[in-house]
Amino acid sequence: MKSILITGGCGFIGSHFIRRFLHNNPDYHVINLDKLTYCGNRTNLTDVEDNPRYEFIQGDICDKKIVFDIAHRVSAIINFAAETHVDRSIEESEDFLRTNIVGVKTLLDATNHFSLARFVQVSTDEVYGSISHGSFTETSPLMPNSPYASSKTAGDLLARSYFVTYKTPVIITRSSNNFGPFQYPEKIVPLFITNLIEGEKVPLYAKGENMREWLYVEDNCVAIELIFKKGIVGEVYNIGSEHECTNIDLTKKILKKFGIGEEWINYVKDRPGHDYRYSLDDSKIKKIGYTPTYGFDNALDKTIEWYRKNKEWWQPLKDNRFTKK
Ligand SMILES: NC(=O)c1ccc[n+]([C@@H]2O[C@H](COP(=O)([O-])OP(=O)(O)OC[C@H]3O[C@@H](n4cnc5c(N)ncnc54)[C@H](O)[C@@H]3O)[C@@H](O)[C@H]2O)c1
Repeated sequence: MKSILITGGCGFIGSHFIRRFLHNNPDYHVINLDKLTYCGNRTNLTDVEDNPRYEFIQGDICDKKIVFDIAHRVSAIINFAAETHVDRSIEESEDFLRTNIVGVKTLLDATNHFSLARFVQVSTDEVYGSISHGSFTETSPLMPNSPYASSKTAGDLLARSYFVTYKTPVIITRSSNNFGPFQYPEKIVPLFITNLIEGEKVPLYAKGENMREWLYVEDNCVAIELIFKKGIVGEVYNIGSEHECTNIDLTKKILKKFGIGEEWINYVKDRPGHDYRYSLDDSKIKKIGYTPTYGFDNALDKTIEWYRKNKEWWQPLKDNRFTKK
């Protein structure tokens, strides 16, 4: 039986990935290392808790002792653990720098120390900054515009430098904006859906002209698993969906699905440094066999239905969102 360390597995994307990975890979034991910050939630994986091939360890990826104690038991690491919310990074970025840089270093050191076969760093399109026309390729310059994006960029550069200096078997994934079940209700899609379920207006930055490329979380997980198995060490892979839309169009679409109109939008002051547009050229990952399978509309319906049916999951998170740390 092989073993893999997956970090941040109690978060949004990591929990989907672990569920999928356990199902697809009966020859693997999965160790999930998660600090359980405000957005880490063990109940995201209640359905696999009793799986004998699944093990949860609460701990910090910056903690060398914990990481090394686990790393000697595994053959690979996939790192989802991160501080992820741009607005929070604008208020205070210290935790972002620690986890997204020092944490990555600790995992890279463990990869070297135990000669692990793979280290997959899960990153983001936000490292490229904003683009008005065309799409970012994996060789586009890194021009991050928020403290969150800068900290992720530093993690990516550190990973790259370990590959060049030590031949650490690093692969980096950069995906566009994800949405789907189990996403913490501070992010735009679940925030808007849960507000509407509660009969509250949705807060939209400025005029909502910013554009994002929306990727259903399950498609991202398919891509990351593919990269883990078939990706080339030292390479970066963009993961996109080709479904671009402005935030106002996204908002109108969600409102329409609730059968209500634009009077439910509360226009709020823009976030400083708000990137205008992200867009990814993902032809490189397509060459190793990836195609997104979820259409945007269908995936949005599934997401809305999930939040409607799982109020007991998100209601306590929304109530505690400014207090739990
Ligand atoms: N959500 C998106 O749209 C998106 C898009 C592109 C890339 N990403 C990247 O994907 C990864 C996962 O994102 P997400 O949306 O699932 O995040 P999330 O915020 O939902 O979850 C992050 C998880 O990491 C854990 N964590 C945080 N700090 C930790 C630490 N020091 N040690 C151990 N665990 C820690 C948290 O407890 C949580 O379970 C991140 O690296 C993020 O940068 C996310």
